[in-house]
Amino acid sequence: MEKLVSLCKRRGFIFQSSEIYGGLGSCWDYGPLGVELKNNIKRFWWEAMTHRRDDIEGIDAAILMAPKVWETSGHVEGFTDPLVDCKQCKHRFRADQVTGDKCPDCGGELTQPRQFNLMFKTFLGPVEEESAIAYLRPETAQGIYVNFLNVMGPSRQKIPFGIAQIGKAFRNEITPGNFIFRTLEFEQMEMQYFVRPAEDKKWFEYWKEQRRQWYDELGIRPEKLRWHQHAEDELAHYAKEAFDIEYEFSFGWKEIEGIHNRTDFDLGRHREASGKDLSYFDDQTKERFVPFIIETSAGADRTTLVVLADAYREEEVKGEKRVVLGISPKIAPIKAAVFPLVKKDGMPEAADKIYHDLKKHFKVFYDDGGAVGRRYRRMDEAGTPYCITIDGQTLEDDTVTVRERDTMVQTRHKTGELVEVIGGKVG
Ligand code: GAP
Repeated sequence: MEKLVSLCKRRGFIFQSSEIYGGLGSCWDYGPLGVELKNNIKRFWWEAMTHRRDDIEGIDAAILMAPKVWETSGHVEGFTDPLVDCKQCKHRFRADQVTGDKCPDCGGELTQPRQFNLMFKTFLGPVEEESAIAYLRPETAQGIYVNFLNVMGPSRQKIPFGIAQIGKAFRNEITPGNFIFRTLEFEQMEMQYFVRPAEDKKWFEYWKEQRRQWYDELGIRPEKLRWHQHAEDELAHYAKEAFDIEYEFSFGWKEIEGIHNRTDFDLGRHREASGKDLSYFDDQTKERFVPFIIETSAGADRTTLVVLADAYREEEVKGEKRVVLGISPKIAPIKAAVFPLVKKDGMPEAADKIYHDLKKHFKVFYDDGGAVGRRYRRMDEAGTPYCITIDGQTLEDDTVTVRERDTMVQTRHKTGELVEVIGGKVG
């Protein structure tokens, strides 16, 4: 993990938030390559979950919602972690992560567990009083539930159908972060699928399979993924059944996505509290019911960490260490780099033309600094799948070399073929 954090800083993927002031714990900023990678991951999810389907609509709800939403959803009362404090060194821990009754840091005596709500509070308007309290959403899901009727009407969807959303969520987490694994501010990629109550099991199984497959398409090694079923005492307050997809990080097997059967809990509670009829009339069976919800909930930042951790490798090439990020070309931040072999003899001009032509099709990067071998290494670390080198021969026969990141094999192509040769693999 230390090597990955250092590579992320060196290559401009991820930096500590407010670094020049000593940093802010569990908060991170995405740099030029990081934002490209995370955007590509989000796009990959959005395409799989909305564009490629007829039964899922997208929305983008506000982060701030009526406080009543969080009272009704059960988060004000139930979205808590039990915390214990060390009476001696004053360090604070999640009670479920401490074994025994002694402080893991100094061996001191621990307090009894106290419930700590994970929601960040703020105030609406200028007066900081109880009645003005609002919350930063701890999950994006509620923005979907309260818009159930708003989306269903105009889109003319019929059950079963889903609503998808990507957006920021906030949790006042106590446990240490492990880089971008657990942060205070993060992005969720959530989809809520509304089904007939009797069909919940069928759709739960369907979504488990779909979501597991998505990680294969993302290029994650299957042996690094496994399922974890929530035991009764692990289930969130809204869930009847839950499975996590876990990834084997260097710090252990950890959840990266949850598939939950939320039953009619959310719509039922909002229906009661708002007085709005959030039930559904089934034209076929002539029945009225409150739909059950199967939720798929992934973290965009956690998936970014999975992609980076899974892609990182060190190899020895001709006696030298090579660090490579073997990211799938489909989500790589830069798709191809363009290098003039030397900065003379018309090569920069030819390279510049190719660079500008390719730019219209996908993200490319121009580099004419230093020996070509060093430029290859920099692109290996950035996860760039292709490097195009313009050399003396280019000026004679309009061909260039294309070097593939993983195999390091170089092939020669006409410049006019580049969009087809590379574009087909990175799209
Ligand atoms: N709406 C259901 C829900 O929020 P969750 O299991 O609490 O379920 C879903 O969270 C996903 O959100 C997690 O699998 C993880 O990927 C991401 N996530 C949750 N808390 C996070 C945090 N503090 N930092 C980064 N990602 C987080």
